[in-house]
Amino acid sequence: MKKRIVVVGSLNMDIIISTNRLPQIGETILGNEVNYLPGGKGANQAVSIARLGGDVSMIGAVGQDEFGKSLLEQMEQNQVNTEFIDQVEDVKTGIADIFHVNHDNCIIVVPGANFTLTPDKITPEMEQLISEADVLLTQLEIPIETVQKVLEIANKNSVTTILNPAPAQTLPAELLQLVDYLTPNETEFALLAEHTLTTNDELATLMKKWETTYNQTLIVTLGEQGSAYLQDGNLVITPAQKVKVVDTTGAGDSYNGALAVSIAQEKSLPEMVAFATKVAAHAVTKFGAQDGMPYTADLD
Ligand code: RIB
Ligand code: NA
Repeated sequence: MKKRIVVVGSLNMDIIISTNRLPQIGETILGNEVNYLPGGKGANQAVSIARLGGDVSMIGAVGQDEFGKSLLEQMEQNQVNTEFIDQVEDVKTGIADIFHVNHDNCIIVVPGANFTLTPDKITPEMEQLISEADVLLTQLEIPIETVQKVLEIANKNSVTTILNPAPAQTLPAELLQLVDYLTPNETEFALLAEHTLTTNDELATLMKKWETTYNQTLIVTLGEQGSAYLQDGNLVITPAQKVKVVDTTGAGDSYNGALAVSIAQEKSLPEMVAFATKVAAHAVTKFGAQDGMPYTADLD
């Protein structure tokens, strides 16, 4: 039987402004182009999973506005089960203002409806959905108390948990202890470990210490360098594939989605990382968070 994956997280409308540079405070400049594309870390990860053939349900919230409607449609078109996505009254759908400058970006997220997903909104039906799943994947664009709650439910029911701790924030130990796979990028890991990362030796030492403390598998993504994990205590860095980068928005999300699918398929850690690396390489070749995310057939 196909393994079931549940994503609990955000849905945003990405408002992407392409510009040659960012304005200074008080300055007005002309940008080049604006695009409205579906995003949000939770939604992106769910789409990545669905396109890779995973059976995925999403728990999340949007507003009853045009953005919310359009995001729900996008999820349905991508074969994500939207039954557990609330359409909340009197609140706006989450947005991300993305400034796209020279193949890179900076982002302001306004959570809106995503922050109405408080722990009391996790219904008994949702609880059942999680408890019957094989893998739970979540991030930090919804209230942290909700992240804690869904991880607790998963843990109680021996569901494998993945936390993508993004956007960066410090996290309590009682939350971290509920995580089987933690997937920070370098900046997020430096913040969590309360340490700067200058050398690979330093990275290896901190990762070892972290894995022992929290009894979990760490996969640290390093952008264009690739990603790092420990194999028998040794640091392994899987290099990113060389591709023509158009847009890195959502690259981490495609990677996390691929990991969730690989975990459901019980792949080994090196296999998981190799697969996720390949998936992320596709995602960055197209504009927008979800557009470049590959289908299984694209990977041959
Ligand atoms: O990880 C990329 C995502 O972060 C974007 O789609 C944007 O919505 C922000 O949440
Ligand atoms: Na992309």
